[in-house]
Amino acid sequence: MGGTIGTDVELAAGLLRSGKPVGMPTETVYGLAANGLNPDAVAQIFEIKNRPFFDPLILHVSSIQQAKRYTHSWSPEAEKLAAHFWPGPLTLVLPKNPNVPDIVSSGNPTVAIRIPNHPVAQSLLNSVDFPLAAPSANPFGYVSPTTSTHVFNQLGDKIPYILEGGTCDNGLESTIIACLPNEKPKILRLGSLAIHDITSVIGNVDESITQNSNPSAPGQLDQHYSPYCKLLPLEQIDILPSPITQQDKFAVLFFDLAKKRELIEKNIDVFYLSENSDTREAAHNLFSMLRRFDELGYTQVWFQWAPEVGLGRAINDRLKRAAAKR
Ligand code: TXA
Ligand code: MG
Repeated sequence: MGGTIGTDVELAAGLLRSGKPVGMPTETVYGLAANGLNPDAVAQIFEIKNRPFFDPLILHVSSIQQAKRYTHSWSPEAEKLAAHFWPGPLTLVLPKNPNVPDIVSSGNPTVAIRIPNHPVAQSLLNSVDFPLAAPSANPFGYVSPTTSTHVFNQLGDKIPYILEGGTCDNGLESTIIACLPNEKPKILRLGSLAIHDITSVIGNVDESITQNSNPSAPGQLDQHYSPYCKLLPLEQIDILPSPITQQDKFAVLFFDLAKKRELIEKNIDVFYLSENSDTREAAHNLFSMLRRFDELGYTQVWFQWAPEVGLGRAINDRLKRAAAKR
């Protein structure tokens, strides 16, 4: 089947009803959506992405009321977070109800769930009477897509339709937090919602996973979000790197503009994530920049870490995994 990109929500809804997967924009990244109550439809997501079955999916819903059909035992913190940040880039991991198929949760007693804050995703969710299971719409291990073209280029021949929703505002996946009975709320993945925003609503959370290089949460693999080019951290940005081999096509990725000008004069290809030294802007640009390096044929890219403020920690988390050895 040959995929097309379009704006026909009813067409996408019809495909979903008949058990087919479709590409769906969200405010974070594009998702590969399927009927989350239909195990056969969900199985196609794993197959298309080449994703291991141990890595569970996020259910997307249109309301808190709908979320409560698939989850139970909401803690006061979960209630507060949902009231505060939904729709938005926050995923809650909660005890699941038996109506959620095991293939969605990879057999876990919990399920990840969120309400996306994107008008096209919302109108799609309102057009169907089931939740949408949707991982990021990229082959497993590669950089997540932030435009419909990114999805089309990698999965276009495997999915019938991709809903157009423009460039994703946030550009980085949702922040995931587990809110389980009798446990302190625990961050499972850094993402587009800064930890500071979460703690300002519910106080301290367990952040141990973000300091652990080998966390046990499914999907938090050391090597992930990787472009094909080799990424190397610039530990000291004043010492200029050089190509490892003569054959390497080589570039430097800075966080902001500060260092760019002096390097241009030295004839080095330089890129930056944020014109205004803003971590939100950098997060928005990160994944499309990593893709661009592959498109332009760079084989070796030295990058500067983001400052550890705002979304800087989440950006550095992605850079670290993108740079990890295959
Ligand atoms: O922003 C996002 O979250 C995007 C958009 C499409 O919504 N989705 C996304 O999905 O990033 P995915 O599948 O690429 O990442 C979901 C992560 C995985 O690391 C998975 O292991 C984790 O969520 N996850 C899902 N269910 C879980 C559960 N029950 N317990 C712990 N982690 C879970
Ligand atoms: Mg993903």
